[in-house]
Amino acid sequence: MLMEAQSQQQATKTHQYDAADVVLDCQAKQIFYSDFLAVRDSHVPIVKNKITGFIGPSGCGKSTVLKSINRMNDLIRGFRFEGNVHFHGMDIYDKKVDPVSVRRNIGMVFQQPNPFSMSIYENVAFGLRLNRYKGDMDEKVEKALRGAALWDEVKNKLKNNGLSLSGGQQQRLCIARAIATEPQVLLMDEPCSALDPIATRQIEELMVQLKERFTVAIVTHNMQQAQRVADQTAFFAVDISRGGRTGYLVEMAPTAELFSNPQEELTKEYLHGEFS
Ligand SMILES: Nc1ncnc2c1ncn2[C@@H]1O[C@H](COP(=O)(O)OP(=O)(O)OP(=O)(O)O)[C@@H](O)[C@H]1O
Ligand SMILES: [Mg+2]
Repeated sequence: MLMEAQSQQQATKTHQYDAADVVLDCQAKQIFYSDFLAVRDSHVPIVKNKITGFIGPSGCGKSTVLKSINRMNDLIRGFRFEGNVHFHGMDIYDKKVDPVSVRRNIGMVFQQPNPFSMSIYENVAFGLRLNRYKGDMDEKVEKALRGAALWDEVKNKLKNNGLSLSGGQQQRLCIARAIATEPQVLLMDEPCSALDPIATRQIEELMVQLKERFTVAIVTHNMQQAQRVADQTAFFAVDISRGGRTGYLVEMAPTAELFSNPQEELTKEYLHGEFS
């Protein structure tokens, strides 16, 4: 009986998506930083050509799960991921898999715009040069800048330093840098939190365009943003019942469904602003 209740609870947590639509299937059983259990029991399917939003209070593991998806956390000492992340029939945590090639296919944009101190052009060309791209670089750079809705603003100053741009432009430059190498998935950790409302709107509109070509996952603290851009939303919370502070997925569903008809009491409380 208990088993049945548990498995029913598990089934309601994550909406059932058609397997053919799931490009990345993240099953995080346990994620540790040394002996601290940061995240447990979080199954997050990332659906192709859609935007998946991660929401939840500070410290619930949104960034930890997002970065686990492209092995960005490998660089942190003591980090350990238990579970698997299926990507085109392989587990990206398989010993045979090269994390560099994972990150080539699954790009990342961070909270603080972080252009390199080099020209706008070279910022975009950077990944292509690393990959020893031999084709028409000008064409690729223009395509990426157009894709990031930045071309018109920078086409006459491509030699200027990327750091000379405004915050919103810098973030779009980072998006151009990330998409120049044509990854399949783009992960964004609070990409608008350092931006003003106008720049935020531009990035949101851009995300909606980007999903035509890429699959996008975004962490956001902004509930309106999640509702404006995310097709599906995963809500995480912190479990303090076992004496620790472990994050876990409470529920995940198409965004309109999650916001209008949450299945879990905790989600309702969070969406009504009863805890932060
Ligand atoms: N490098 C690290 N070493 C040790 N613990 C970490 C590390 N990074 C994160 N943590 C811990 O893991 C837990 C989850 O952190 P994470 O950054 O994933 O949360 P978050 O949901 O993204 O929070 P926020 O909304 O504040 O960005 C927190 O308790 C945090 O303190
Ligand atoms: Mg975070």
